[in-house]
This record gives sequence, structure tokens and C-alpha cells, in this order.
Amino acid sequence: MPVGGVSPFARLPRPDLTFTPAMADRTAHIYGRMARVVPAVEWPVFAPYVEAINHLKKERNAVILAHNYQTPEIFHGVADIVGDSLQLAREATRVDADVIVQCGVHFMAETSKILSPAKTVLIPDMKAGCSLASSITGEDVRLLKRAYPGVPVVTYVNTSADVKAESDICCTSSNAVKIVESLGVPRVLFLPDKYLAKWVASQTSVEIIAWHGACEVHERFTGEELRAYRAADPDVRIIAHPECPPDVIAEADFTGSTAHMIEWVKKAGHGRVLLVTECSMASNVAAEAPGVDFIKPCNLCPHMKRITLPKILDCLLDMSGEVLVDPSIIERARLPIERMIAVR
Ligand code: 13P
Ligand code: SF4
Repeated sequence: MPVGGVSPFARLPRPDLTFTPAMADRTAHIYGRMARVVPAVEWPVFAPYVEAINHLKKERNAVILAHNYQTPEIFHGVADIVGDSLQLAREATRVDADVIVQCGVHFMAETSKILSPAKTVLIPDMKAGCSLASSITGEDVRLLKRAYPGVPVVTYVNTSADVKAESDICCTSSNAVKIVESLGVPRVLFLPDKYLAKWVASQTSVEIIAWHGACEVHERFTGEELRAYRAADPDVRIIAHPECPPDVIAEADFTGSTAHMIEWVKKAGHGRVLLVTECSMASNVAAEAPGVDFIKPCNLCPHMKRITLPKILDCLLDMSGEVLVDPSIIERARLPIERMIAVR
């Protein structure tokens, strides 16, 4: 703490959260970014938080990194950097700020902490977990390595720091095939998503030994459901995330990470598109792709949805929700993430 100064962790007083006509004027340009997807009647509820959070970010020298699955008022209202897991991991190494507020789930905040250990990393809700991350432990990976000696471990970023620390290289859904092939080996252990593993196996000749984890959001989609959508609307384009089961991917016109899905939609520019992924993403893209009609089979991620504007405000006011990782784990978990980032 600076001598005679205020601790950067000092609690700040709660701002007045009354919506006024002057606030409506000041925030009109921010509302404009999401007007297509957030009804005007909801803005008086969101605007006081958006304004207070944007002010506090300056006071705390903080940046907000938000995943594509965050709600539109977060994604378009307070985030400084948005993206898929790979983009957020890359940006975490570049941000010039004292504090990172991770609007996403816990493994994403851990990844930011591992890559920027000198920064304070906050998550607005510590309970924002992930069914994939909780499907495997560091001990499981140690046992697998004993069962398959010498086989490299490729680990999806949707895992805890302990699991990353036991891995050779990380991957995301954006680069999984490229990462597997970059190793130049005949087979790899691929953890922990069994469906992503199946999709990667379909794209490469490298043998994939998979774990049995699954994303609780994407595994709820079915091929039957998609066939019904297509029967009702033969022109619809179906775009799926590779965490979906194989019968879902078999019905898709395109499969890719959230960033690749957004890219695809913006390039298409028109038509009807069914996004087979977490529901908020369609709202976030819809705000920027006015020519596209979205059909949303609405599966929400309960973990991503734990992050709300009031919780972001609280964590910036109180500097609460700090994500800490044991320095010895940071040292070991950093390597596989950096190896991944280095693969182009
Ligand atoms: P990507 O954004 O990397 O595609 O990951 C999707 C996901 O489920 C993150 O939790
Ligand atoms: Fe985890 Fe699935 Fe939620 Fe992503 S969408 S955080 S993979 S549970």
C-alpha cells in the first residue's frame, strides 16, 4: 500500500443507481449498440450499472474480458475485450491494466491469472464453473499418463489449473485440430471433452484417446431436433459448436468455435441461421448482423449466466472475487498455454 495513500483494495462507496433523463442522454450511444436485442423498457434497469461500472473501471485501472456467451448488456455495455476462449487467453497476455475482471467462468479467470500473475484477476461469481472443468482432476491426468506413457496430453482450456499443470499443450475449439497435428505424433490423449475429441478425430488421422467429459449445454442438442428445424425451414443454415454430439454435428452446415461461428454469420450477412450453441451468443451477434434472422434453440449455460451487472459492480467496488492460483501451479500450467498460443 502506498505510504499515506489509499489501498488499491479499499472498498469504494456504492454509487447512486437512479436512472435519470440526463443518464439516458449520456448512455444513449451505449444502448444503441444493443438496441436490436435489448428492449428499451429494460435500459433504465441496466444503464445505472453500465455507467457505474464503466466509471469504476477507470478508477481501478481495470479491464473487463467477456466471453461470447455473456448477456448483451455485459457484452455490448461494459466489456473492453470480447471473444472466444482463445482470443481471451491471447488478450490476457497483452492487457495493460492492474485489474482484470473476467466475465466468463472460473477456468477462464484462472487462465488469465496464469498468464498475468502480477495482475489482480477478479471473477464476479466464484461459483461460475463448467461441467467440462469439473469432469477431470490433476490426479486423473497423472493416472492417465501412467496408463499411456509417452503419449502427449492435449488439454482443452476448459479445465482447472491443476489439470493444465499436468498437460503438454492446451487447445481451444478454435485450434484443436491444428494443435493435435502440430505435435507430429501418431496418437494423443485428448482431455476432457469426449465430443470435441470425436470431432477432432473426424478431422485428422492422429489417433485420439479421449476422456469422458461433456459440456452440459451442448450435449442437450439432438440431431432429431435439428432435422425437425430443417424440415420446417429447408433454407435454414445450421451452425454448430464442436462441443455438440456427433449426430448434431452431422446435421450442421458449418462447425466451429464461437469466434468462428460469429465470423461465419457476419460473412453470410443475410438469411436464417440456427446457432447450435449457448443462447446469448445469437443475441450478441444479432446486434451486429442486422440482415440475419436467428433461430435460437435456447440452451443457456447456468455458469455463464451467474455473471450479472450487479455482481460486476460489487466486485469492482469491493475488489471481491479475487482468483488466486498457487505459484508452483502457475509455473507449470503456463507452459502448455504458452505452447498453444505459439502455434499459429
Ligand atoms: P469457445 O468460445 O472457445 O468456442 O468455447 C466455448 C465454450 O463453451 C466456452 O465455455
Ligand atoms: Fe462449460 Fe459448456 Fe458452460 Fe462452456 S457452455 S462454460 S463448456 S458448461
